[in-house]
Amino acid sequence: EEITLCRRSLLVWYDKHKRKLPWRDWHDTDSNIVAYRVLVSELMLQQTQVATVIRYYETWMNQWPNVNSLASASEDDVLKCWAGLGYYNRARNLHKCAQLIVNEYNGEFPRDLDIMINRLPGVGRYTAGAVSSIAFSLPNPILDGNVIRVLSRLRCIGSDLKKKSTTDHLWSLAADLVCPERPGDLNQSLMELGATICTPQKPKCTECPIQKQCLAYEQQIHQSSTDIEQC
Ligand code: ADE
Repeated sequence: EEITLCRRSLLVWYDKHKRKLPWRDWHDTDSNIVAYRVLVSELMLQQTQVATVIRYYETWMNQWPNVNSLASASEDDVLKCWAGLGYYNRARNLHKCAQLIVNEYNGEFPRDLDIMINRLPGVGRYTAGAVSSIAFSLPNPILDGNVIRVLSRLRCIGSDLKKKSTTDHLWSLAADLVCPERPGDLNQSLMELGATICTPQKPKCTECPIQKQCLAYEQQIHQSSTDIEQC
């Protein structure tokens, strides 16, 4: 079946090609710590490029390796550590999240998607999906700019990507794709594909693991002058 094929191809490709990033380095770590690391990295990555985030992430983790240490930090120190990343509300929210998790959840990261979205400041559907799938292996989808591009090409969705109905449709496509066995890896494979292969300009379709399933690619072949961008 189509979805199973996509999942399998994406995971095989991801296992082979994923970038080694510090927040992906988690053997022997309990899921509560993984959740904290994913939260920090995802918030840093929201407006900042991977190459810049790496240094900040490492400094941050050395200072505050878990929610407890971050909760006891002063806001001044938190903002100092964030200096240069911009969008300082992300840092304030992260600090508040840590305090809330310590004070109201006994230091245990909530696993429920709605609780994450409704209670944790700065955490929306994307971040909650990332934490719950990557740290807790729960089958929740994610949709960011990279994933939007991958999915809209895969299904050749030409409609206005800013319309709510289009976004809803993309969220449901992302949900269909999440595999129950490795939801975090599947989600990350979509982000990774968008970042490295299915790029905005000149996508490297010949290296794409789901080229055979891609409607935009197919149309590009059949209408040789059409750019995949227009799909
Ligand atoms: N960009 C945002 N989150 C990411 C992740 N988990 N892996 C790679 N790129 C990302």
